[in-house]
Amino acid sequence: MGKLMIVNGSPRAPKSNSKLYIQAFLSGWSGAYELYSLTQRRQEDCLASLEQCSDLLLVFPLYTDGLPSGLMAFLQALLAQPPSHPLRVHMAINCGFLEPSQNDVAVDMIRLFCKRGGHSFGACLRISCGEAFPTTPFMAIARRKLRKLASAIAKGRPVQLTASMPLTKRMFLRAAQRYWLGRGRSFGVSEEEMSTLEIEGP
Ligand SMILES: Cc1cc2nc3c(=O)[nH]c(=O)nc-3n(C[C@H](O)[C@H](O)[C@H](O)COP(=O)(O)O)c2cc1C
Repeated sequence: MGKLMIVNGSPRAPKSNSKLYIQAFLSGWSGAYELYSLTQRRQEDCLASLEQCSDLLLVFPLYTDGLPSGLMAFLQALLAQPPSHPLRVHMAINCGFLEPSQNDVAVDMIRLFCKRGGHSFGACLRISCGEAFPTTPFMAIARRKLRKLASAIAKGRPVQLTASMPLTKRMFLRAAQRYWLGRGRSFGVSEEEMSTLEIEGP
């Protein structure tokens, strides 16, 4: 294969979980690559560089069961200004909830993009508990899957992988509750305030 373009599609790219997942991916990648974050706002440079790439890896978070708007805009620009050859498009998507299947609609959106742009859909990794993995020893699970993704892309294998934490729903809910209430407290927001649908006051 030729060069791989890795795109970080997180709106908070420099502080994102996607960045940490890219670092883990690169620990298993020995081929040539370029790295571009959508927050760099140099989309034209990235589109031009894709002319020298055979593969594109999109690494991004799930936002409201779909793609972040910046990534949508990037894909639209890629449809409007395609490289002169089709790409193999791979993805590593991470979501906050417990089930990797939460990512399925977003995976279908990338499939549709490939169909419309004449690109081929390659390897895919669906990560759940995406916010939690990097801060726990379970990160070893995600790292192993990202290295597997790297190996599959290098060998041209269109694998479908998942990475999730070995937690029951009850354990996940308890940990999430503790985390979000703690976050609320650090911003001076009580549990009662966090539970209300009144976000703008009367
Ligand atoms: C605006 C917004 C929408 C989100 N929507 C979902 C969602 O629909 N389902 C889900 O499981 N996680 C959702 N999340 C959680 C993110 O996917 C998760 O925090 C992810 O790890 C962020 O990755 P990043 O740091 O690479 O941006 C959402 C987060 C934000 C900020």
